[in-house]
Amino acid sequence: MDKLIIQGGHELHGEVQIAGAKNAALPLMAASVLVHGTTELSNIPRLVDVRTMGRVLENLGLVIERDEDAGRLSLNATNLNSDTAPYELVKTMRASFYALGALIGRLGKAKVSLPGGCAWGPRPVDIHLKGLEAMGVTIDLDEGYVIADASRIHGAHFVLSFPSVGATVNLLLVAATIPEETVLDNVAREPEVTALVRMLQQMGATIEGTGSSTLRIVGTRDLKPIKQKVIADRIEAGTYLAAVGMAGGEITLKGAEPEHLTMVIAKAVEAGLHITVTAEGIRVRRNGELRPVDVETAVYPGFATDMQAQWIALMSVANGSSFVTDTIYTDRFTHVAELIRLGAKVTMKENVAKIQGPATLKGAPVMSTDLRASACLVLAGLAAKGETHISRIYHLDRGYERLEEKLRNVGAVIERQSE
Ligand code: EPU
Repeated sequence: MDKLIIQGGHELHGEVQIAGAKNAALPLMAASVLVHGTTELSNIPRLVDVRTMGRVLENLGLVIERDEDAGRLSLNATNLNSDTAPYELVKTMRASFYALGALIGRLGKAKVSLPGGCAWGPRPVDIHLKGLEAMGVTIDLDEGYVIADASRIHGAHFVLSFPSVGATVNLLLVAATIPEETVLDNVAREPEVTALVRMLQQMGATIEGTGSSTLRIVGTRDLKPIKQKVIADRIEAGTYLAAVGMAGGEITLKGAEPEHLTMVIAKAVEAGLHITVTAEGIRVRRNGELRPVDVETAVYPGFATDMQAQWIALMSVANGSSFVTDTIYTDRFTHVAELIRLGAKVTMKENVAKIQGPATLKGAPVMSTDLRASACLVLAGLAAKGETHISRIYHLDRGYERLEEKLRNVGAVIERQSE
């Protein structure tokens, strides 16, 4: 298993190219199942999760050609020959559950393993299933599988009880194929969902309300394969922004979309970072002390739960105490115990972390527990005195493209070692 070794205390200067968004690429890949012919996706990040989704789709019969260096993926779903996404694949990545919406949309039936829990809690799929049932899909749960029969599918009006990203994606994949009106209320408005809406529109579905909480969809059985570019990863950009906050220096986040980062930028400015939007992306500079800033995670356009761990790391070196609350995933705090090993002063009460800054972080061996927790430990390692060893970094490879290379290019001292 690989580990990362970081020598902290080096400022970051230069440019980081922000990759395509993992959480946008995965639903677009799933949408390719809906059509006969070849879907071409560009700006695909080189990530383990993208490869996992590729395996799920190949298992259904898709023919996939990859050019990882060019960030291109072509997916041909003409010879789709299976309606099953097995446990062995779905358990490794929750987004494999998008196979459910994709298969119902294309075949009118599906057998997809329930994804189960994850490192920080149960993560249910009840909203996905209730929405499908509202569209006339019969759902049976058998031996850990969702067995869906859509022979009586129809348009519907469904209000999501919570604006779940995954449920919105699955319901959109199905609604785009029903030639009747479906109204989805209280949908997720994350940019990754909007990217899928735009793709389905180009494929031939009529969708009104793009970017809003209510989507009116009139689908078609005759969707067309198209070319689509994946949007920039706002969480990767936010993570590098926080890296500058921790290590100091000035970097340009090339290709980052400032309008997808409004809340993170506002909080970063409040904390004392200098942020400039340029033609190339976002420039971030730190010179001087950081101020403590409270955040509470919320659905988009609120502060993303996927930035919560990185913000706790940043606040550990701010000049005063702050509170970070996660309302989306109330148990997503496995990074806190590891941060404390590096010298951060954090106490937890339910889903609220109280961070007492400024801590003098000192390198230590720590362990990654999930993707964003790992990012948080890397950030802390950049600011810590001495050497930080982060083990189990396979989590990072799921969602950060060439992280150590990108950080090294801007002056961090970081290397990967195989254990
Ligand atoms: N929820 C339900 N029932 C459902 C679905 C969701 O109660 O049927 C609850 C969840 O338990 C959670 C909340 O709704 O409390 C939000 O879950 P959501 O469905 O929106 O999350 P997701 O689709 O499973 C995506 C991202 C996550 C990100 C969340 C929240 C992808 C592939 N994953 O997950 O990203 O944290 O939205 O923004 O898009 C990551 O990239 O590190 C990551 C975990």
